Amino acid sequence: MDKILIEGGRTLNGEVKISGAKNAALPILVSALLSDEVNTFTNVPDLKDIESTKILLKHLGARIDSDKDVVQIDAAGLNNHEAPYDLVRKMRASVLVLGPLLGRLKKARVSLPGGCAIGERPINLHLKGLAQLGADIKLKHGYVEATTKGLKGADIYLDIATVTGTENLMMGAVLADGVTIIRNAAKEPEVVALADVLNQMGAKIKDAGTSVITINGVESLHGTSFSIIPDRIEAGTFMVASALTKGDITLTDCAPMHLGACINKLKLTGARVTVGEKKIRVVGKDEIESVDVKTQPYPGFPTDMQAQFMVLMSIATGLSLISETIFENRFIHVSELKRMGADIKISGNAALIKGVPKLLGAPVMASDLRASASLILAGLVAHGQTEVNRVYHLDRGYQSIEAKFSRLGAAIKRIKA
Ligand code: EPU
Repeated sequence: MDKILIEGGRTLNGEVKISGAKNAALPILVSALLSDEVNTFTNVPDLKDIESTKILLKHLGARIDSDKDVVQIDAAGLNNHEAPYDLVRKMRASVLVLGPLLGRLKKARVSLPGGCAIGERPINLHLKGLAQLGADIKLKHGYVEATTKGLKGADIYLDIATVTGTENLMMGAVLADGVTIIRNAAKEPEVVALADVLNQMGAKIKDAGTSVITINGVESLHGTSFSIIPDRIEAGTFMVASALTKGDITLTDCAPMHLGACINKLKLTGARVTVGEKKIRVVGKDEIESVDVKTQPYPGFPTDMQAQFMVLMSIATGLSLISETIFENRFIHVSELKRMGADIKISGNAALIKGVPKLLGAPVMASDLRASASLILAGLVAHGQTEVNRVYHLDRGYQSIEAKFSRLGAAIKRIKA
């Protein structure tokens, strides 16, 4: 397995181009299943999870042509309704095919994803909503088996504003007969991007980005072209890198309006943040102020930035409290950061971080995608060498991360297995 070696202590300077968002690209690629015409997506990030999605879509009968960041999907030949264990196991977002398969083929057999490193992550709300849309759902031998005589619009209330749940139901509802209302819907920019693509394909979705989404079902969807929105979590990770290394990094091709919570919190730590139309410049300060953070659904502070922000707090001047309210087990990076000298105590869903003057490089083990990013950040600021093992998590969600950091002046390299 590959590992990443970092010689810490360099100040990072320069420009970094932000790639397309993984969590927008995944449902958007899947949405092509809803049409029998060709869909063309640009600014698609080059990631393991995107590869897994393409394999899944091909398995279901779609034809895919890719060239750099352009992906063309022709799902006219959609003929298979099964997402097998081996594909879903590699990427939980595979469950997003449930809605489109029910809409197009009136049946779906999708392996139930298991728990993962950050929590149990059930899909009960996806299934409950699809049942309300008229799917008959059975759980058999580790699979969700869903059939329908034809999905019908329904008034759905989500107990939790689940992101992929909202996306799955939106995709189920676009071809349903009648009106669907999704209440307590997720408001994340990735949900809005999916609604935008679907509307370009001919769907009638209103108010995505608010907590009540209304969908008027249509007969069929046509093809379209769409550019994937910038990755706000990749952007946030580089913003923290600049503050952490007392650097001066300008992010280009990003979407500052999706980063309000991160920008605000970073400013409170003392970093100087200036925002342009598609640019953000972060200049780090010598002293990093401690700031409390609570993860929340959008527009709150994203859980996907919690681990990275914790690294910044671990070398701040005082005490900071980070509360994780989205996932029940998203502090696995803490024990690795402690091995690098961080002073962190966990109690329930909160971590109390007492800033220390410096972190020390160490061999560490990445446990999930964002934890991996936090360990890279810790390595960049630590004294001495850090060896981040199990970096395949990182390749799922960060395009060319070591090349991007290296161009900013980091001493970072990948050791191939
Ligand atoms: N939940 C349920 N039942 C459900 C669905 C969700 O109890 O049916 C719970 C989850 O267990 C969790 C909470 O609701 O406690 C919120 O989970 P959500 O469903 O919103 O998360 P998700 O859709 O599975 C997406 C992102 C995650 C990101 C979360 C929260 C994608 C592909 N994944 O996951 O991204 O952390 O929303 O913003 O969009 C990542 O990129 O590293 C990542 C984990």
